[in-house]
Amino acid sequence: MREQIQRMCAEARGRVQAATDLATLDEIRIEYLGRKGRLTGLLRGLGAMPADERPAAGQALNEAKLEVQSAIEARRAQLQAAVDATAVDLDPTFPGRRDLRGSLHPVLEVVDEICDIFHGLGYTRVEGPDVELDALNFTALNFPDDHPSRDLQDTFYVSDDVVLRTQTSPVQIRTMRQTKPPLAVVVPGRVYRQEQPDASHAAEFHQIEGLVVDRSVSLSDLRATVEHFVREFFGEDRKLRFRPHFFPFTEPSVEVDLWWESDRGGRWLEIMGAGMVHPNVLRNCEVDPEDWTGFAFGMGVERIVMVRHGISDIRMFLDNDLRFLSQF
Ligand code: PHE
Repeated sequence: MREQIQRMCAEARGRVQAATDLATLDEIRIEYLGRKGRLTGLLRGLGAMPADERPAAGQALNEAKLEVQSAIEARRAQLQAAVDATAVDLDPTFPGRRDLRGSLHPVLEVVDEICDIFHGLGYTRVEGPDVELDALNFTALNFPDDHPSRDLQDTFYVSDDVVLRTQTSPVQIRTMRQTKPPLAVVVPGRVYRQEQPDASHAAEFHQIEGLVVDRSVSLSDLRATVEHFVREFFGEDRKLRFRPHFFPFTEPSVEVDLWWESDRGGRWLEIMGAGMVHPNVLRNCEVDPEDWTGFAFGMGVERIVMVRHGISDIRMFLDNDLRFLSQF
């Protein structure tokens, strides 16, 4: 009996080792270990054996079964690994799947481009918070308490003394209170105004502020700076116009217009407000206006992007519509 078991076990293991595919392996498993399998059959025959031989034969059979079982498992793992390795379902003629590529928002692209131009002139890029103290957005910038911009209708108030900044100009104050002159900074950022949205108005948009404070800075420095910027950004020979204007925080103040030609003819396009930093603003930052002068400017970014790309509705910048965004 024992000999018979050992022979059958060796034979089974030999065939398991020789099996080259999973189906054959399974047939072998059934042949030996299945319900009507050969080893199983021997196990059943135990009952007919003399009682004193039964335990030894039973043990030998169980060991044989386990041995064949583990040989089958080991071979199955090998064969399965071989199948997996070759099971790449590859069709080299199938067209590739293109990833959705992200890109910079057209507004941020222009923000970077403009800041780079000023970086080239030695300006440092700084930023300030969107949620700003009323004291910095208005008071320190020389706005009187009853100035119409402070009106609830124009400004989003977070609380009595905190606003969503309506301009990037409060960063002038933050900068001068933190850094002693001489200084030159360019400040991109988002600003908020309570506007009824339409094709040319949005309640949030971007500005880029510039501030230079040094000894004997003059209006002609401002003018030369703006002209340099316009040349770099819009190209040579652009027509510019400096119009007198009023801002509480600059004196004198100007607005700068750029002549813009399109299919529908030419027109003046307002590109920025600017001026010489008001002595009160310098004093509010403990900068002595007898020693220092400065100029500042602030431009709206969206308008510039709109004329550059021929975009007719400012609200498209905020829609996050991929059909719009993927064109840039
Ligand atoms: N802050 C002004 C505005 O939002 C623009 C400006 C900036 C004007 C700096 C003068 C100097 O309209």
